[in-house]
Amino acid sequence: MERIIEQLKRFNNEQPSFTALGEELLKANFNNLAYKGLLPKIECKDNYARNILTRDPIEVILMIWPPKTESAIHFHNGFFGYVAVLEGALDNIEYAFKNKQLKETGGLKALPGGLIAEKDGVIHKLMNTSETGNAVTAHFYYPALDNLNGINIYDIESGRIGELNDKALTASWLEHESCFSKIKENAFTYLPYHKHKTTSHRIFSIIPKPDREFISKNISAYYSEQAHEYDFFDLEHESRRTYNEKINALIAEELRNDGISTILTLACGTGRRDIEIKELTGLNYLIKGVDISSDMVSIANRRGLDVTCSSWIDVKLGDKKFDAVTFLYAFGHIPSRDERLASLKKIANHLNEGGSLYFDVFNVDDKNEWGPSAVKAYEKGRYSDFGYERGDVFYKKVTGNQIAFLHYFDKNDLVHDLSLAGFNVSFVKHIGYVKKSGEILKAANEGALFIKAIKK
Ligand SMILES: [Fe+2]
Repeated sequence: MERIIEQLKRFNNEQPSFTALGEELLKANFNNLAYKGLLPKIECKDNYARNILTRDPIEVILMIWPPKTESAIHFHNGFFGYVAVLEGALDNIEYAFKNKQLKETGGLKALPGGLIAEKDGVIHKLMNTSETGNAVTAHFYYPALDNLNGINIYDIESGRIGELNDKALTASWLEHESCFSKIKENAFTYLPYHKHKTTSHRIFSIIPKPDREFISKNISAYYSEQAHEYDFFDLEHESRRTYNEKINALIAEELRNDGISTILTLACGTGRRDIEIKELTGLNYLIKGVDISSDMVSIANRRGLDVTCSSWIDVKLGDKKFDAVTFLYAFGHIPSRDERLASLKKIANHLNEGGSLYFDVFNVDDKNEWGPSAVKAYEKGRYSDFGYERGDVFYKKVTGNQIAFLHYFDKNDLVHDLSLAGFNVSFVKHIGYVKKSGEILKAANEGALFIKAIKK
């Protein structure tokens, strides 16, 4: 810890800007930091505890967060800073306050190596969502605060705003009433994210980008969380249904023309789509499925499909070859370009010569989807420093907890990778997803990408 405190002494001579402090902390190495002896004692298992290491020139605080603890929602009025996660994970949830209304606007999760920015003027809270483990964080603030006097905290349950005084040790409603200089009742109403956004999903970045095991485990949990409502969700959402139906029809037409007798279906989920596509072809081919979610696999098995529970890269199919492969709605779940390329090569190995691969991915340039905003966040948040590839997005259902991963694709990069993996691209169609759902579109910045590629 001393090493970083020493490093920050350069700000003795120059006042740090928000960006300059961030740059300095990005340069710091938080691995193998000696801090155990400096950890504050947990006085209350329901609240975080802090130990102020220095105030000069940057305030450096070490904090420990027992399971399920969080700060109150608080307002940074006249100070900014960063939080480095040293152990566990910490969620940062941000809000906007306007016309006596507090709105939840966004959030992210930071893991060890991740840095959470707290801009001057931000309203936010930090939380350790783990049921079992502590989180440990190092905080860097400028200017240093002598105490928490004057900080406003918000209680979304009751609509109270409390102003802390110099006796408060944490920004929390668990502080004794003598730690408040005033409490304003009925000061605001609260709008959770899903009450003011019409979307079903929200972006929830994880920094740094976690490893593939973490991502796979989370995707599997994300789908298991909704396995029993997934088909229903699909059917209920008009645009997604129209989009999927268009792709089903296009695939069925191709498969019928090719007169296939075997198909391998990757990320087959509950198997509903595979059965629909087969019915559309009127053919009687053999279906082999693979899916990562055990809950989805048991539903597919109950539907009479032969499905193995695994990720595509890990499954062992021996020397079996198929006439066609589908990888619908899920190729973008593969966590990295290297693994996507390896997955395409593995698909090629399991295709008969001239066999076809059909898959769809989100288009990073689609102005109606998350691609362009993901790229903006990637550039603004310097996510490349945190292991992201351009087009990477972490997200969750607005009403769910599990965070899934998707990559948004650049069309040229994808065509290039297909060629590297031994495919000729037969077509790439732009198909409207939420907007102009199911329509084949001409513009490069509209629609998801639906691809047919043929093994060379
Ligand atoms: Fe804060």
